[in-house]
Amino acid sequence: MRRLAAGNWKMNGDGAALAEVRALVASHPDPVCEMLLCPPATLLSRAAGAAAGGALALGGQDCHPRPSGAHTGDVSAAMLREAGATYVILGHSERRADHGEDDALVAAKASAALAAGLIPIVCLGETEGQRDAGETLDVVAAQLDGSVPDGAPPDRLVIAYEPVWAIGTGRTPTLPQITQVHAHLRARLCDRFGAAGSGIRILYGGSVKPDNAAAIFALRDVDGALVGGASLRAADFGAIVAALDAA
Ligand code: PGA
Repeated sequence: MRRLAAGNWKMNGDGAALAEVRALVASHPDPVCEMLLCPPATLLSRAAGAAAGGALALGGQDCHPRPSGAHTGDVSAAMLREAGATYVILGHSERRADHGEDDALVAAKASAALAAGLIPIVCLGETEGQRDAGETLDVVAAQLDGSVPDGAPPDRLVIAYEPVWAIGTGRTPTLPQITQVHAHLRARLCDRFGAAGSGIRILYGGSVKPDNAAAIFALRDVDGALVGGASLRAADFGAIVAALDAA
């Protein structure tokens, strides 16, 4: 499997930030891992232009479950694809919290993404309260079951484990805690998809930085990272890409 370093710019970045895209592409012409940035939808086509000829893939941060229609303010999977995306992040905890997205909606969006030729990155993770209550494994298993649509092709599916309390906080789970959750997700994927479940990429996300990336990438069943804050600068994200290549 080819591991994946995915950056999520969230609601950050403007035309000037395309310089970071150019710098990343120039500094990593031939990465071993797959390198992906998910800028705001408004920047996608310009980012695609800035990345042209390089090894950087682009993705969206959300899509609507329907292909088109009267949905003011929404963006369809096909629109993202046309703008240059090959991936889309779905069910990020900020979407789940800010927009009330539940597992069924995330699954519907993932189906729409697949139908449009995008690879969905389905996000899940426990809150701090759920971890403290000892519910982490049950919570992520239920999210996995509910957010991955039936019939999803295992080779066109990425899972991102992102503990809500680790996102943007500078805090991360311990390495054994990450290993435990990834092993649990792997077992669940193999139950559902058979042997193909072992080839589904499971990313870790939540305060991944250049200085902790190597230790996280050395863990079993960590097949890459979903990176927020540290993806905004080419130097930081490039260091994370290099750590994944070296792992
Ligand atoms: P962070 O965000 O790296 O800034 O913690 C991760 C994410 O939300 O995907």
